[in-house]
Amino acid sequence: MRKKIVAGNWKMNKTAQEAFVLATEVAELVKSSVSADVQVIMSTPALYLTGVNQVIEGIPNLAVAAQNCHEKASGAYTGEISAPMLASAGVQYVILGHSERRQYFAETNEQLAAKTDAALANGLTPLFCCGESLETREGADFLGHVAQQLTESLFHLSAEEFSKVVIAYEPIWAIGTGLTASSDQAQEMHAFLRAHIAKKYGQSVADSISILYGGSCNAKNAKELFACPDVDGGLIGGASLVAADFITIATSY
Ligand code: G3H
Repeated sequence: MRKKIVAGNWKMNKTAQEAFVLATEVAELVKSSVSADVQVIMSTPALYLTGVNQVIEGIPNLAVAAQNCHEKASGAYTGEISAPMLASAGVQYVILGHSERRQYFAETNEQLAAKTDAALANGLTPLFCCGESLETREGADFLGHVAQQLTESLFHLSAEEFSKVVIAYEPIWAIGTGLTASSDQAQEMHAFLRAHIAKKYGQSVADSISILYGGSCNAKNAKELFACPDVDGGLIGGASLVAADFITIATSY
């Protein structure tokens, strides 16, 4: 049985006060409404991780995630946060390779391999993002493009290490645009990525990896997307900023 995960990515949103209110509302709703076998995650701005962690203390299926980490453990990298820092602050998950990091901060597959190593070495679970632009989707080999992101950033890992990674497929053309991938499009990519993983690590590892869908996933379309056999949950942007919507998604199984 693969783990079902619904992760909200707050991106660069919410003041400290608003973050506290949202985290408190989500915590209450997770306790009252979300099945214990669904792992809910809030990926907050780094500044709020420890505060939100206090709000959600004692709720076994609710955790926080950082939105990024640096590949080095420490040093003169002003403004950066390392994996050991996150782990020491009680953070369990970290989003790596979000398309916004790739696009605006020029993160490469090679750098993401190093960040993945740093995360795993410190006991953090990477939520590794992959996905294609609209231009790539309209080209000949969009499936291969996304597979290559996995190959170049993750396939140096041992099977044991790889088994700790969560994949999030996010077609860039669907992020924040209201243009969701259809359930057929999501299923096609997720099944393709699982087969790609199976070729490298074997079927049982591939079958154990949670692959989340992200990109305009909301309270209305989550049920249909989550019904796809290879979709194991979602990475939710805009809809994670409203507690009721986020929890509707987390209960869409
Ligand atoms: O990390 C989340 C994704 O970028 C999806 O964002 O749900 O606002 O389209 P969105």
